Amino acid sequence: MSTSMISSKELRQKYLDFFKTKGHEILPSASLIPENDPTVLFTTAGMHPLVPFLIGEKHPAGSRLANVQKCVRTGDIDETGDLSHLTFFEMLGNWSLGDYFKKEAIEWSWEFLASPKWLGLDKKKLAVSVFAGDKDAPKDEESAAIWKSLGVPDDRIAYLPKKNNWWGPAGQTGPCGPDTEMFYWKGLAQEFPPAGSNPENDEDNWLEIWNDVFMQYNKTKEGKFESLKQKNVDTGMGLERTLMVLNGKADVFQVDTFWPIIQKIQDITGREYIESKEVTRSMRIVADHIRTATMIIGDDRGIAPSNVDQGYIVRRLIRRAVRHGRLLGLKENFTSHIAEEVIRIFGDIYKEVARNKKFVITEMAAEETKFRDTVEQGLKEFEKLVAGFKIAFEKTGQAVKEISGKQAFKLYDTYGFPLEMTQELAAENNLTVDVTGFNDAFKKHQELSRAGAEQKFAGGLADHSEMSTKYHTATHLLQATLQKVLGPHAIQRGSNITQERLRFDFTQPQKMTAEEIKQTEDLINAAIKKDYPVSWQEMPFEKAKELGAIGLFEDKYQSLVKVYTVGDTKQKAEADPKSATYSREVCGGPHVEHIGTLGKFKIVKEEAVSAGVRRIKAILE
Ligand code: SER
Repeated sequence: MSTSMISSKELRQKYLDFFKTKGHEILPSASLIPENDPTVLFTTAGMHPLVPFLIGEKHPAGSRLANVQKCVRTGDIDETGDLSHLTFFEMLGNWSLGDYFKKEAIEWSWEFLASPKWLGLDKKKLAVSVFAGDKDAPKDEESAAIWKSLGVPDDRIAYLPKKNNWWGPAGQTGPCGPDTEMFYWKGLAQEFPPAGSNPENDEDNWLEIWNDVFMQYNKTKEGKFESLKQKNVDTGMGLERTLMVLNGKADVFQVDTFWPIIQKIQDITGREYIESKEVTRSMRIVADHIRTATMIIGDDRGIAPSNVDQGYIVRRLIRRAVRHGRLLGLKENFTSHIAEEVIRIFGDIYKEVARNKKFVITEMAAEETKFRDTVEQGLKEFEKLVAGFKIAFEKTGQAVKEISGKQAFKLYDTYGFPLEMTQELAAENNLTVDVTGFNDAFKKHQELSRAGAEQKFAGGLADHSEMSTKYHTATHLLQATLQKVLGPHAIQRGSNITQERLRFDFTQPQKMTAEEIKQTEDLINAAIKKDYPVSWQEMPFEKAKELGAIGLFEDKYQSLVKVYTVGDTKQKAEADPKSATYSREVCGGPHVEHIGTLGKFKIVKEEAVSAGVRRIKAILE
């Protein structure tokens, strides 16, 4: 283990430098909010924005890629508070798109971890796991042999089932495969691992820091695993965990992208991080949740707290942080002060959070104030409920173990308690909550069912079905048409696609008139009737701009971008790039080949989202 401290800045740079020496192009972090993927609310891994390329689209930057990606995993929300689980984290990743495979991936992982020239971690404290094999795929002897050839002893190689050593879409279709994971000895009780210890038989003492996935299968709708033509590598290393072990810290909250936040919480509360188990846990939850909420609100597709989709997660994170702040004794608004610290830490790495600082601070403070108005009363209401249960038990001898759906809904609706917060409070009192009853009560009041949103929290890959692809192409037509009808200011602010509809947010100061809506539909349907072909070209970023291609241009550091054109054949577009087109947009794909297949385009709703932003929902009939 190296003796000097290594900072987050140095680690990010080392990782990217290392993979540059292995011929990788460096990509910027994509947005935390996936653009055209109905199956997830957030970007959960670096591979996520790369799914089209993992299943065969050509990536303009080549077949070896690496980056540092902002990730949010809401599935880990309940585990937050322990040593190493986080809802926002930075993932260091490298990818082979049908280029190198197991041998290079594993050798480079080992070189980066163990070579004194790079991280210089003590080989005696490293262990790995590989896939044990099952009916779908064989035991990964190949990876095990590569590890052994590098000098990893037999007893440090664990063979584990799909649950541990397989990565891909949970219960969905798409690219997936066995993985091999790397672990570092936590060494809580002793400095070096005893002989025979590995992540299989001594799980608690090993911390996973890196995962190399070998995407060699495609899971079909029928649940079959077919061999992929293009064999990919998808790796992900946790920045915070790696920093923790490199610097000999006891938990991820003591690395430099967290510790100043904890210090700020110590200052505000006058308490000590290590005061008691409860204080440590609450401080970790506040730090993690406000860090995550700041990064989501501060994204360039920034999301404000609300009752649906990503906005609901932001609300839940802030409200849970407020409750834990209250447990630490905080009675006044504090979240925006912590958000400022988060922005100070990340502002020069993810420049958008610095740019969007005002929005973050305003939204954070507004959400906290809104919740503070009711939280005290809500907690009293909750205590009354629990007291009532006790009285009922004394009277009848019947123990009440469950908070009814109606009661949980009242806490939600009247006092702003997210269901999960009521569940957490219930658990602290050895009670459960009738979630089905809550959902029934909820559905009666709201158009969107929480169950629908819940499915998206599970994570996984996009289902690139035919219908999603059609809606994706329709979204390009819509943006181009809105700019024709309303003017060039009508640029995309957000997009979301399901199998049933598209949703598109765009800059527009006032409500669209009935005439403008009809004109938009008519233009799109006329284009569909002409059955324009869709083609794409790779070009330098500057050229795409020159040609007037629309797009977020978040890939501006990439040398080449992919530009989709509707209205010209590939040949024609190449021969005369300025020739008349219907739409030209920077995009990764996928899209239909001819728009005649889209059917009839219909706008079903046009509404306000926030000041200056309108939302269209449209269907293809
Ligand atoms: N996608 C894999 C993971 O998230 C490797 O990056 O672990």
